[in-house]
Formats: sequence, C-alpha cells, structure tokens
Amino acid sequence: MITNTELTQKGNVFPSKIISFSKDVDKIYFTTEDDVVLQITILRDSVLRFRYTTTGTFARELPYAITQHASIGYNELDIEEETSFYVITTSKLICKVSKKDLKIKLYDRADGSLINEDELGFHWEDSYEFGGNIVKMSKVSHDAESYYGLGDKPSHLNLKGKRFENWVTDSYAYGKDTDPIYKTIPFYTGLYNKKAYGIFFDNTFRSYFDFGQERRNVTSFWAQGGEMNYYFIYGPKMTDVVEYYTDLTGKPDLPPLWALGFHQCKWSYYPESKVKDIAAKFRELQIPCDAIYLDIDYMEGFRCFTWNKDYFPDPKRMVKELEEDGFKTVAIIDPGIKIDKDYWVFKEGLENDYFCKRADGPYVKGKVWPGECYFPDFTNPEVREWWSGLFKELIEDIGVKGIWNDMNEPAVMEVPNKTFPNDVRHNYDGDPCSHRKAHNIYGMQMARATHHGVKKFSHPKRPFVITRAAYSGTQRYTSTWTGDNIANWEHLWIANIQVQRMAMSGFSFAGSDIGGFAEQPHGELFTRWIQLGTFHPFFRVHSSGDHGDQEPWTFDEDVTDIVRKFIEFRYQLLPYLYTAFWDYTEKGVPLIQSLVMYDQEDGNTHYRTDEFIYGNKILVCPVLEPNAKGRRMYVPRGEWYNFWTDEKIKGGKEMWVDADIDSMPIFIKEGSIIPKYPVQQHVDEKKIEEIVLDIYYKEGKENSQFFDDSHDGYEYTRGRFCLRTFKLTGRKDQLIIQQHKEGTFASDCKKFKLQIHGLPFEIKNIQLDNQTKSLEHLQINGCLTMIIEENFAELDLNAK
Ligand code: NOJ
Repeated sequence: MITNTELTQKGNVFPSKIISFSKDVDKIYFTTEDDVVLQITILRDSVLRFRYTTTGTFARELPYAITQHASIGYNELDIEEETSFYVITTSKLICKVSKKDLKIKLYDRADGSLINEDELGFHWEDSYEFGGNIVKMSKVSHDAESYYGLGDKPSHLNLKGKRFENWVTDSYAYGKDTDPIYKTIPFYTGLYNKKAYGIFFDNTFRSYFDFGQERRNVTSFWAQGGEMNYYFIYGPKMTDVVEYYTDLTGKPDLPPLWALGFHQCKWSYYPESKVKDIAAKFRELQIPCDAIYLDIDYMEGFRCFTWNKDYFPDPKRMVKELEEDGFKTVAIIDPGIKIDKDYWVFKEGLENDYFCKRADGPYVKGKVWPGECYFPDFTNPEVREWWSGLFKELIEDIGVKGIWNDMNEPAVMEVPNKTFPNDVRHNYDGDPCSHRKAHNIYGMQMARATHHGVKKFSHPKRPFVITRAAYSGTQRYTSTWTGDNIANWEHLWIANIQVQRMAMSGFSFAGSDIGGFAEQPHGELFTRWIQLGTFHPFFRVHSSGDHGDQEPWTFDEDVTDIVRKFIEFRYQLLPYLYTAFWDYTEKGVPLIQSLVMYDQEDGNTHYRTDEFIYGNKILVCPVLEPNAKGRRMYVPRGEWYNFWTDEKIKGGKEMWVDADIDSMPIFIKEGSIIPKYPVQQHVDEKKIEEIVLDIYYKEGKENSQFFDDSHDGYEYTRGRFCLRTFKLTGRKDQLIIQQHKEGTFASDCKKFKLQIHGLPFEIKNIQLDNQTKSLEHLQINGCLTMIIEENFAELDLNAK
C-alpha cells in the first residue's frame, strides 16, 4: 500500500540549503545542495506558481487544467537577497524563500501581514513500491483559519479538520462524507484574518488534502507521483481568489438559454410514445420545460451512436416533433464501446488502434452496460478528433441538441477498484503515461472531445454538454451534475452543499438529480428539492428506473401546483440568471455564492452551510427538513426585502423565516433591479415586448445589470448583445434610475414595466429623460407600477 499519510514516520526527505539562484524573465530558480530545484513563476501580481523537482529537471508541461487564455502579466517584480531569505516582491505579494531549507512565506504587500507559510514545506517520500516520489507540501494552519472548495465533496462546506482524497470514482448512492466521489478539483481557498488565498495543486495523480486532521495546526497536500506543482492565488477577497482560479483554468462560453430552463430526465424514457407522453403532459399541465433526456435504453444494446429501432423507429422525426413543441432532446453517450466486430464504432476504433491498452500489450477490457467493452484513449488528440466526428449523425442529421457524458471516471463494473487497472497506458498528448497519472483527467478529456464534436455539428448554434467526471478546467467544456444521489432529506442538504462548493471551485454550471436518483421521494421532499433546484444553475429532475416515477405530476395536485409555481419562477428569473452567467463567462464570477464568499469579513458566515446568494442579489435558503413551516437562517449584513411580503429586514443576524410548503426563504438585496420575463412554457416561446424590472428601493446607490442577446449562436461575440447597466440612487424623497446601454443587439423588448418596492415617499413628480410625466402613469397594485420605454436614460421619481 502506498502511504496516504503526509507525515510518515519513515522516509520523508527534505531539501537542503540553496546554493544558487537565477532568473529568466518571469521565472525564478533556486537550486539546493541536493539538486532540488524550486521554480517560481510570476503569473500575475497576485498569482505565483511553485514547482519543485528532485531530479534537477522539470517534466514537459502538459497543463490539461490551465487554459491558454489565462490572463498573464504583472506590474512589478523585484528580487532581493537578504541574509536568510530571497525576497520576491510584486505589487500585491511579498514572497520570502528561506535559504536554509527552501521554505516559503507569503505576505500581503499592502499591510505586510503574513498570509500563508510553509510548515515543513516541500518534502517527499521515496516510494519504492511504484519507484518514484510521493510529493508533499505542508503549511501552517491557524486555529481560526477556514478552508473551502475541492469540487464535489459531500461534506460540511468548511473543510477544516478533515482529510480528502482526489480520485475520480463512480459512487452510486454515496452519502454524507463519502470520499472520494466523481470529481477531482484540487483547489481550495483558505481564509485567515479575513483575508482569502487559494491553492491549486495541479497534479493529476491520486492526491490528498488534509486540513488539520492529522496534525491540528498543519494543512498538507500530497500526491502519489508527479511534481509538487501548485498555484498560490491571493485575494484578499474570496471572490477574487475564485475568479483568478477560474481565469487560470478557464471560463465556459455562454450556453444556449434553453440549457438554463427546466429539464426532465429518467433512466429511461422509452419507447418514443413514452417520451412523447411525458412531453405532452408538461404542455397539458402548463409546466414549463425545455429539455427531455434519453438515457442508455435509446441505444441498440447500449452501443453508443446507435438507436434501438424498435423503440425509436425514426429518431429524426421524433426529435423534430419534440422541437416543434419546444423540447430539446439530450442523449447520453458513455465511454465504453461494446466489443462487437459488427459494430461500426468498435471497428473504427480497432482499425485505428484508438482504445486504451494494458501495459503488457492488449487492449484493456472492462464490463459496463453493453457487456465487455474497450475504451477510447481520450488523452490521445487523434482519438479526441475521431470521437468528435462521431457526433455528426446525432447532432447534425438527427437534431439532438445536447450530449450527456456518463460513466466517464471511467466506471468499470465487477471490479473492486471500479475503474481501470493502474498499469493501463495512455497517450497523454504525446507524453505516454500510466493510468495512475491519467485517471483523474480521463473523463475530462472525454467531455472535451464531446464538446468539440457537439460544437462543430451544432454550429452556428451553441453546444450543450453535461459530464459526470471532471478535473479542474472541465468547466470550459461542459455542465455537470452531482451523480447518483438518494431520495432522502440528508441528500437535499448534500445537494445544496455540493453545488455551492462546485461554484467556489470554478465550476458553477452544476446541479443535482432533483428528487434523488436512487429510491423515490415523497411529494414533500420532491417539492423542497424543486425549490432548491430553482436556484441551481443546472435544473434537472433525474431518477433511476427502479424506483418509480418522478415527474412533477407523480405525487398529488398540491405538489404539482407548487412545483409549477417554482418552475415558473425560474423562467421569470431567466434574464437575471443569464446576466449572471454572462458575468461568469466574462470574469469567472461564480453563479452562486456561499455566505462566506458573500461576506468573508463577518465571522458568522464562516461555518454557515444552507444559505447562499443566487447571482449577486438574491438570498435563498432551502428548507431541508420535513414538516417545516419555516426555518431559522442567517441573513447576511445589509438590508434585505422579503421576496414574498416586501417586508424589509436588517441582516447580520439569525432569524426565523416563515416558509410553508409552498414557499421558501427568498430575500432581495436592497437597491437591486431584477429583470423578469413573463412565464413561458419554454425559452423563446413568446415574443417578449415588455420586461418587468423589479426595483427595490434603497437609500444610497446600487448598480444592477441586465445582459441580453439572441440566446443562442455567437453573434454576441461580435458585439450583438445588449448590456444595460442600471444605477439606482435613492434619497429620502427621491429615487433616480439611470440606464446605460452597450452593444448593438436590438431585442423585441419595447417597454419596461417597473415595479417599485419599498418606496418611502409619495410620488408627486416624475421626470423621464428630463420631461415631466403625468402621475396617471402610476398604478398601485401591491407595489407601485409604471410602464416606460425600454431606452430611457434617466427616471426621476420625486416627493416634491
Ligand atoms: C449512471 C448515471 O449516474 C445515471 O445518471 C444514469 O441514469 C445511469 N448511469 C444509466 O445511464
């Protein structure tokens, strides 16, 4: 057994003293007496990369995680030699490298405070079992320090006191604290003294993180091979840490708007008549829905890229008819290719030698749904190109709009380790390696190849892909879900944590199997789960076939009505979500923020798990227990409007909030302007000529944005978008809204219906673009309402 503790009693080796130092543009090298080299790269003033080798040379760079579009460049770089340290200074950081042992200390340049320091620093263990180094790093951890991130870990949001393993694993019916599960995102954010920093340990081997479990005041991370190679990202704002990390590992393109609607899935809907019935029922009951999924039973004997013609005699016609009714079809594709000499995909793979092989020569075979399979080596660029071409028929000819990649850990049945043997060989983009190194990125490379194909054949429309397995950077290619959860209350809590955690790990386009994959929820649990899912970027009901139905009408009429109400709310909020998504694609701003991320200076947020901010203006808190009439929750600092009652409350405290089964706690930050569509049965069902702007009065100033474009295609990248920035200025007797428009996109929207909440004065005078408007334009039904032209520049509501 290769050790999985950081501090073994035997075998740890440490670097000796520095004997030479050199600099090459943005890279600084320190060499020790025993030939350890530390390379520090200055990527940005607040982003440094640390790489260590014990052999004197560095391996060839193969950054699957890092995007070539990452922002690089710094304003200042200065290196000085002091008696005991080398001191590297940028405009944001001071980094001290100890001459005697290569240990690092990092300080905030602005106030000189210590942000992070090595404990043992870089060390390694000689592992003769695999014939290489287990590379290790340990850092000092403070009592009040907190840790967040690491992708899909189903544990408390604050990782303090825990240990985790990173090894992408098929985890049917996982539970709270099961580790590892489907994703490897070796990036965490540390928060100490109200300042946040991030560490991204970009090493694809099986790796571990320990946040003070092994030793209380030590945080460590290590991997069973490869290099000690990590990025240090300084905030001090947590949002900046996550944005810089996302910039480094890549932002996605805008998805088509329909991908943000509601999706219905099941293992499996078949035959065609069943799919049609489900779709028809949505329309009959007027429950909005944009996509319907085909799980493995649409295939012929589970052979990818084939159709079972008994169940689906004419898929092209079916897909077209669904499309005419406003449904996009999404189909599953797994990596396992059935060993069948009469099956064209298998034959092509074999002829071209595209399948993964064992170290002793032959192809690796494994059992999945179709029986024995071979598996394409997605780490080979030629294989990825071939794979992307396989989507031509599904996407271009048949008209399927999205592809769902599953089992891509890769999952293998009937073996204890659930995946390939360690010795399987991979091309690794021309740098051959074993599965020990390639395992964690296998699923990511499959999603990459799939994305490439779907994009190519969807053009000029945008692709939509969803994956189960992922490594850092996978967010560039695809959305994701949290895998095979269970229909129980604990899993509702887990789903909430996982999606928040994914967002703070750079991967915002995520959701859970709503209602639970295994077992069947009762109506109350399903309702509460739909409420949570309404605020998850990816909004899909999915469940296994073995445990009964799980459609919005499966339970009783009350459930159907509440579920409809929340799905409708999702559709009303689509312009708000789309704007947030655009912000994510531009700057890496997470789509949802945990409270700690929203207000890291407030210590009360550091251990909160349930509440989160949707976009940057809406606070939600799911109800996670049965029979609840409401719940206690922490409302962060600032003033908030209760969405249901318009009651204004002051945050910074925990409070009881009523939320019977047809409701959940939702608050809007004061000063916000929230754009809303009318309810539609699917995206772009209606020509929307009037958009609601919900305006929440604040004494003071607040900015809001509203991004719009054609909801698909790439015209927005050529300026055909419409970005509106609203500036709200509230005084005791006045409310001014200014609008600034950018971009050349002209939408159908002609008018805004303003709904003004919480105005503390009676309006006596209205100025619209410097013209007096009659008060007759005002209506009072619940809140103040008025309709104005969409292209206004300034609206001034006055008490005088
Ligand atoms: C496992 C996936 O996690 C699940 O979502 C899917 O329904 C089954 N495989 C069958 O394809």
